[in-house]
Amino acid sequence: MKPLLFIHPVGQACAFIFGLFNLLTGLTRRWFIIPLHINCGAIYYFVIFFGAVMGSLIAQWARSQGLPITMDAHKVTAMLMLILIAAGATTGVLLVRGSTQRKRLVRYHRWINIITIVLFIAQALSGVIMLVHIFRL
Ligand code: HEM
Ligand code: HEM
Repeated sequence: MKPLLFIHPVGQACAFIFGLFNLLTGLTRRWFIIPLHINCGAIYYFVIFFGAVMGSLIAQWARSQGLPITMDAHKVTAMLMLILIAAGATTGVLLVRGSTQRKRLVRYHRWINIITIVLFIAQALSGVIMLVHIFRL
């Protein structure tokens, strides 16, 4: 049942497209349409969260089937990302509500989201390395 191992990576790769779109449109302010930004952002955060739960369940199942899945760095980065996406969503919602601290919040929101995208790339690398290892067995 090794193909089941692809559910989580493919789901997360889809989330990445929404995040990258938001990051590029946010930084360049081209195609920056607030309702679109909010929807893409919500999809990005939700799929990452749901995908992390799925990844964890599938990894447990795979271990119970005897597959040697060891992903300590991936797991730690995932925890960090979950904290960051909570912060990214909070700053985003505060901005939509209209805060007096707008300038500072935009800065936090921007950097938090840039870091989530950078960590995402690290997750993709460690994830793909693990998949290659498992499929070579
Ligand atoms: C719940 C989801 C989100 C909400 C409600 C939200 C809300 C907002 C709002 C209202 C602004 C405009 C701030 C202003 O013009 O004063 C903004 C800017 C921005 N957002 Fe989001 N956002 C969300 C998710 C994301 C995600 C997922 C990313 C990227 C991965 C992102 C990246 C950015 C960037 C780069 C800016 C521009 C910051 C700057 O001016 O440098 N946002 N966001
Ligand atoms: C495209 C990017 C990613 C790839 C290729 C990837 C790949 C993998 C793979 C191959 C596994 C083993 C289980 C399985 O196949 O379902 C896994 C587990 C996991 N992934 Fe990912 N992943 C990615 C992104 C993420 C992200 C963004 C998060 C969370 C923020 C995440 C959280 C987890 C967690 C929590 C586990 C379980 C680890 C364990 O229990 O040891 N992954 N990932």
